[in-house]
Amino acid sequence: MERLEELLVQNVSHSFGFDDILKDINFKLEKGKVLSIVGPSGGGKTTLLHLCANLLDLETGKIKNSFKNSSYAFQEPRLLPWKNVIDNISFGLKAKGIKKFKRDEEAKQIALEFGLEEDDFEKFPKDLSGGMKQRVSFARAMVLKPSLLFLDEPFSALDIGLKKELQSLLIKTIKKYNLSVLFITHDLMEAIKLSNEVLVLKANPVGHIVTTFKYDLSQEFRDDKFVYEETVKLLSDEKIIDTFELELK
Ligand SMILES: Nc1ncnc2c1ncn2[C@@H]1O[C@H](COP(=O)(O)OP(=O)(O)OP(=O)(O)O)[C@@H](O)[C@H]1O
Ligand SMILES: [Mg+2]
Repeated sequence: MERLEELLVQNVSHSFGFDDILKDINFKLEKGKVLSIVGPSGGGKTTLLHLCANLLDLETGKIKNSFKNSSYAFQEPRLLPWKNVIDNISFGLKAKGIKKFKRDEEAKQIALEFGLEEDDFEKFPKDLSGGMKQRVSFARAMVLKPSLLFLDEPFSALDIGLKKELQSLLIKTIKKYNLSVLFITHDLMEAIKLSNEVLVLKANPVGHIVTTFKYDLSQEFRDDKFVYEETVKLLSDEKIIDTFELELK
């Protein structure tokens, strides 16, 4: 029987010293789904992602991750400056004991898929634009063929065109590999475009989920009109207005 793959977060709370950051967080991320956490800066989104990805020790509550494997891409690409594009992408494969020739082959294939060109393969991070670095970071996560991907505001530093392109690439990748994604953003439109479920995390007095929105329409069919209309609906939701401290005119 195939193993059920899911990420289950139950009654998770977290503090840094005497600062309570998160309180009673509950959600479930299923196979092939995208769950986004949106909220204003400082609300504990990154802290929650780090707890889920096991990058931070869990203090209170339970997190059960039964996905076969996971990888992550962060807001800043965090590339190794002394390695070229291909070696950065293939770095994680080395730890898995895959031979150099095979590593390079897989890294090149995914680099091309992610819109990098052969001319870029030998370049070092200092010679790449921000968008190219982001592609390398994304490719480095995907080359590991994760069943769960943790993404912390991966597109927030990009211009609107590039952001749209990488969002479409992410949607294609999700469908192709039946990938599950825990996605952190503060951009409501981005969350509506990509997610099956959006959790809204309010910062005060301590990070907690105030409301949840679900979207059934498959991501490939969400055009700009859908995204704009749903965003307008959210922007008139009292809980959203309160969470983002939006002033009504
Ligand atoms: N290692 C740490 N030690 C102490 N406090 C921390 C640590 N990491 C984060 N914090 C605090 O926890 C709170 C939540 O931070 P976090 O980075 O999770 O917020 P965020 O929602 O991701 O914000 P942003 O949208 O700006 O990225 C902040 O007040 C931050 O100062
Ligand atoms: Mg953050």
